[in-house]
Amino acid sequence: MIIGSGGREHALAWKFTQSPRVKRVFVAPGNAGTGIDAENVPLNALDFPAIVRFCKQNSVDTVVVGPEVPLCAGITDFLTEHGLRVFGPNKVAAQMEGSKLFCKKILRDGAVPTADFQAFTDAQTAVNYVLSREADAPCVVKADGLAAGKGVIVCKNRPEALEAVKEIAADKKFGDAGNSFFIEDLLEGEEASVLAITDGKTLAVLPPAQDHKRAYDNDEGPNTGGMGAYSPAPLVTPEVMQTVISKILVPTLHSLHKNDVDFRGVLYAGLMINNGQPKVLEYNVRFGDPECQPLMMRLKTDISLIVDAVAEQRLDEIELEWDERPACTVVMASEGYPGDYKKGFIIRGLEDAAKLPNVKVFHSGTALNSAAQVVSAGGRCLTVTALGDSLADAKYNAYEAVKCIRWEGAWCRKDIADKGIRAQQ
Ligand code: AMP
Ligand code: GLY
Repeated sequence: MIIGSGGREHALAWKFTQSPRVKRVFVAPGNAGTGIDAENVPLNALDFPAIVRFCKQNSVDTVVVGPEVPLCAGITDFLTEHGLRVFGPNKVAAQMEGSKLFCKKILRDGAVPTADFQAFTDAQTAVNYVLSREADAPCVVKADGLAAGKGVIVCKNRPEALEAVKEIAADKKFGDAGNSFFIEDLLEGEEASVLAITDGKTLAVLPPAQDHKRAYDNDEGPNTGGMGAYSPAPLVTPEVMQTVISKILVPTLHSLHKNDVDFRGVLYAGLMINNGQPKVLEYNVRFGDPECQPLMMRLKTDISLIVDAVAEQRLDEIELEWDERPACTVVMASEGYPGDYKKGFIIRGLEDAAKLPNVKVFHSGTALNSAAQVVSAGGRCLTVTALGDSLADAKYNAYEAVKCIRWEGAWCRKDIADKGIRAQQ
């Protein structure tokens, strides 16, 4: 069973259905696409007893958790106590994402490169600190807790920093997530994601990927959940990757051990890379969405073998195999996203897109209407993914599939993977 309902979960479910070792794949609650490739179950990701009951009744032995919210709420601990095999960290370990301060402390303890920071629980102390910094020094103010990808305010100067402290600590813009918060130095460079699967002892590092967080072309416009991704990311050269492994991932795992944190699952390092020197912006404790889609498209190894190896702590026995070809994922979104948007528009052209070679259209926010037609049901609706002989080719193939698909107000960024293509020239 896969827990979640986005493109990431569709990609994971699709990958599991390809395994000869797996008889049935359920997705809870899923979307229209997971209902086609697997079987949807209308369960709430936070109703742990109901998930256990369903798994027992339907002989489900393994549960893979997509999103961070159930992980931070302790789904792994609960399901494991009831005899299920769960892929995803326990509640304590999930704090690497659930508490940004917990993560910073683990990083500091392990001497992992990350921005210097100062932690606060009240506005006045933070204001005094901001006033003690140079007036034009940029910084980033971060709420400690989960804030659905928000909770981070990048500030160019002192007035912006003071305003950010007010929003988080006084106005409680992010609610209790801002009860503690910290201020860190602004890092310059380009961002990339390096994900690793770990059983707590061994790290299996996945090829690098890059997300596109801003809504519009050339990284302009408001922040989103991610408008596209590609893998591999040429920004992360083999040399940079070696540094990421030796200076970031391995010391992070050691620091987790030292602090008695048993981390098993996906360690997703959000990195800022400047002149080949990577620093950690944040850790997530799950696959990225949309980074998961190009990664699953390229993964050749049976994913069920990986999940079993993690549960049995024998990941060292597995060699991950990857399609050499790059993959590109373009997100198709509803008009108005990331602001307000309407739902329920019929999505046409999915069959035509499905006929294209080396293409897979993963669904995110979709549902079936009463006439069993696929309709838009979220902000990010589809994650159109393609392989290609080169990154440019993968981009071309993905956009050819995008061209087949239409619904009222549908839009996408036109420049997904361009940064990677430029980096190769
Ligand atoms: P986070 O959720 O911590 O990754 O922050 C969200 C986004 O804010 C990141 O993807 C970066 O674009 C930006 N950001 C966070 N921390 C920093 C930092 N120290 N320096 C520059 N940009 C940052
Ligand atoms: N792609 C960013 C995230 O999954 O958080």
